[in-house]
Amino acid sequence: MEKNPVFYKCPGCGGTIMEMDPGMCLLSSEDTLSVSCAGTEVEKLSEQTADFATEKHVPIIEKVEGGIRVKVGSTPHPMADEHYIMWIAVQAGADLMIHYLKPGDAPEAFFPPCPDTDVKAYECCNVHNLWVNR
Ligand SMILES: [Fe+2]
Repeated sequence: MEKNPVFYKCPGCGGTIMEMDPGMCLLSSEDTLSVSCAGTEVEKLSEQTADFATEKHVPIIEKVEGGIRVKVGSTPHPMADEHYIMWIAVQAGADLMIHYLKPGDAPEAFFPPCPDTDVKAYECCNVHNLWVNR
């Protein structure tokens, strides 16, 4: 069974948290977890799919020799200290892979081959939050 992770971000430190089993908590009637980071409640991130201006955020999946490459944006996203892509993730069937980035890296990641099932790509910008390819 494919599960879609849910991501949260701490408004204090900017760190992201991944809920691997959304909907599993039987103690809460809410569909979101109550999670805090050093006493600050984290915020659930919504999946954004369309850019407001120059398409710098929507991840693009390309099949390449030996796997797939995910690029962030049709116009490459900045990778400066104050504004960069924190990580790129790929979900294919029951597999979820994450590649962490840092300022100065290219806004892209390479992953091993995925089965020809639905592949979903996620990326998280430290300023503009969570984006998906669909
Ligand atoms: Fe951004």
